[in-house]
Amino acid sequence: MEDSPMYQALMDPLLVEVDATRHVAVCAQARFETLLAALGAPKFRGERHAIYEGDCREILAQIPAGSVDLTFTSPPYNIGKEYETVRPIDEFIDWCVEWINGIYRATSADGALLLNVGYVSLLDRAKSIPIPYLLWNRVPFFLQQEIVWNYGAGVAAKKFLSPRNEKLLWYVKDAEHYCFNLDDIRDPDVAYPNQKKKGKLRCNTIGKNPSDVWQIAKVTSGEGRASKERTPHPAQFPLDLCERSIKGFSPVDGIVLDPFLGSGSTIDACLRWGRYSIGFEIREDYCAIAAERIADAQRQTALQF
Ligand SMILES: C[S@@+](CC[C@H](N)C(=O)[O-])C[C@H]1O[C@@H](n2cnc3c(N)ncnc32)[C@H](O)[C@@H]1O
Repeated sequence: MEDSPMYQALMDPLLVEVDATRHVAVCAQARFETLLAALGAPKFRGERHAIYEGDCREILAQIPAGSVDLTFTSPPYNIGKEYETVRPIDEFIDWCVEWINGIYRATSADGALLLNVGYVSLLDRAKSIPIPYLLWNRVPFFLQQEIVWNYGAGVAAKKFLSPRNEKLLWYVKDAEHYCFNLDDIRDPDVAYPNQKKKGKLRCNTIGKNPSDVWQIAKVTSGEGRASKERTPHPAQFPLDLCERSIKGFSPVDGIVLDPFLGSGSTIDACLRWGRYSIGFEIREDYCAIAAERIADAQRQTALQF
C-alpha cells in the first residue's frame, strides 16, 4: 500500500498543496456561480465578473445573505452630478441607509464595506459637511477606520481652502475578524530602509504601512492631460485607489461588489488582482461604458482574466 503511486501522490506535500489550491479555485467559482444564479442573467459577464443593470436597492434585496466579501463603492453625493437628482438631505441620508443595510445583509461574517464619500452642502448649516458626520449613527457596520484620500488637483478657491480630500470609510461586520492584507499594500518608499536597532532592521523590508492618508491622483480629463484610464464617465475612480482597496481588504478569489459601478473601475481592479466581482449600475449607457472598458483591458493586456 505504501509503495502504491496513489498513496505516494496523496502523501506528496506539493501535490496535496496543488490539489488543495485547485479545490479552493473550484469552490470560489462555484460560489460565484451560485450568487449569479440567485440574481438572474446579468447584462454583461465574463468568467469572473458580471454587470447588472438596475437600481442597486432592488438587486441587493435578491443577493443571498453573506455572499459578498468586500463591497467597494462610491455612491452619488447629492451634489447635482448628471447621474443624480438633488433631494433634501434627510431623504438622501435615508436613501443611503437603505442600500447600506442591503450591503450589510449581503456581507459575509468576516466581510467589509469600503465606502468612498465626500462632502455635501447643508442649507444654513454648512457649505460642505463631511457625509461621514451624517451617517455615523445610521450604519449597522463597525467603523474600523476612516481613510483620507488626498489628491492634488480639484476645484480652485479664493474665499476658502481648495478642497483636496474625500474619505474612505472602512466598515467591518466583525471587529475581531476581517480581511486585511497589509503586506500586499505596503509602501516601498521608505526614507531610511537600512536603519537598524540592536542590529536588526527597523523597517519591514517589503515597505512601510501605507497609513490612513492615501495620496492618489484623481482621474483627469482635458486635452493633453487626460489620464490614460479615462472613460466618458464623469466621476471615475482612479485605478490606483481601486487596486489598493481590493488588494488590501479582500481575499484572493473572494467576491467583491460595487453597487454603484459607474465606469467599471472596481471590476477592472478585481480582474487584475484575482478577485471575482459584480457591479450594479442604474444607467444603461454607463453599463455599456463599463463593459467596453473591461473588454478593452482584457484585449490590451496579456492578463489571464
Ligand atoms: C460616483 S459614481 C461611481 C463611479 C465609479 N466609482 C467609477 O469609478 O466609475 C455613482 C454611480 O452610481 C450610479 N447610480 C446612481 N443611483 C443608482 C442606483 N440606485 N443603483 C445603481 N446605480 C446607481 C450612477 O449612475 C453613477 O454611475
